[in-house]
Amino acid sequence: MHVQPAPGSCAVASPWEGHCRRVAVLAGELARRLRLPPADVAALEEAAFYHHAELASGMGTSSPQASSRNLSPRAAAILHSFRNPDHPAGGRAAAILRVAEAMTERIEFLPFQPAALEQIVDEMNWLAQEGLYDPVVTATLGALVSIRLEDLLATVQRLPVFPAVALRALMIAPDEDTSFEQMESLLSSDQVLAGAVIKTANSSLFSPTRRISTIAQAMAYIGVEGARRVVLAHVFRPLYASPALQKLWKHAVETAVKAERLACLSGKVNGQEAFLAGLVHDVGRLALHRLGGAEGERYARLRERGADAVFVELMLCGFDHGAAGAEILRSWSFPATLVEAVQHHHRPEACPSPMAALLHAAESWSDTAGDEDLPSPRRLQRALRQLGLTPETLKPGAEPEHWLLTCLLEAA
Ligand SMILES: [Fe+2]
Ligand SMILES: [Fe+2]
Ligand SMILES: [Fe+2]
Repeated sequence: MHVQPAPGSCAVASPWEGHCRRVAVLAGELARRLRLPPADVAALEEAAFYHHAELASGMGTSSPQASSRNLSPRAAAILHSFRNPDHPAGGRAAAILRVAEAMTERIEFLPFQPAALEQIVDEMNWLAQEGLYDPVVTATLGALVSIRLEDLLATVQRLPVFPAVALRALMIAPDEDTSFEQMESLLSSDQVLAGAVIKTANSSLFSPTRRISTIAQAMAYIGVEGARRVVLAHVFRPLYASPALQKLWKHAVETAVKAERLACLSGKVNGQEAFLAGLVHDVGRLALHRLGGAEGERYARLRERGADAVFVELMLCGFDHGAAGAEILRSWSFPATLVEAVQHHHRPEACPSPMAALLHAAESWSDTAGDEDLPSPRRLQRALRQLGLTPETLKPGAEPEHWLLTCLLEAA
């Protein structure tokens, strides 16, 4: 359940909502670890959720959240101590709120001041030694980082997926004389892939005049590019077999289609590679969903409480799902350009690759991304500029044709 405002109050409806929710979720987790009484944890989350109320009010937001008048007395006391460190009424809860807010702001400043999470935690510990923060709280903050990259890799390596087939499909040039025969030969080597391509050619989207039953007939209908998309989608489909992962699968396919479209508009990135990159861009997120155990439960709990994926990942892993996905792709022998792009798709400014910028833009354009990260217009504009595109590119109506998405979701 999301961190909720106090009874009688209204949800945050201001530019700070994402920030306030992040602070509230982190503060709540720290408080539970420090074994604060449940009533104090609830009051702390409430105070964190409203810690920018006056700021929101000053900006003229109409939400009652813009006033902290509805706060419970305990939450009001915590907020008062948070703003006036010499006032002791807030106790440790106020100290936690100070650390949670400073940490969150530091993470939100990463586009302007890049740093590793370890470095940020070290700085917080150093500032605690200087008396600015409670050292017990900053030590607890450092201890939150408990998910290891090896454990995430293991979750995906156990699954029946054959990325070598995807890489073989990628190697087939789009428009050479031999492309058709090469794709036909690839499909002939795998009955399941051949069946998927034939099924797509027989679908209502292509409406063949008579039933198609051979690879050659199917290829004549959907072409090398159509077959390649079906093959790639089919290779990675088993990763998302569980019903709980269907949203993530739809997001992968949508991002693939939109990445290919942006590659075509930009002309700076290979369209076939962009499609594959889009399809696997969030494979690190998939690994986190499959983690299980106490660490998996903690990840799921913080997500359910309303914090976005990238924030929770930085808190619990020290890296985001892009970094985890890059390691998975490396273990599948993916080309370095794709590995690098997936690694940086939430921080495209950290790498010169236009493919990272393209993935960032495609993900921002996707309707199915959910709350992966707080939106950053600065990052998006920079990514689009790098691709020679403008925000107009992502306007409604410019999306790739819907039939392609439907076709791929049905084929795989
Ligand atoms: Fe804040
Ligand atoms: Fe992502
Ligand atoms: Fe994504």
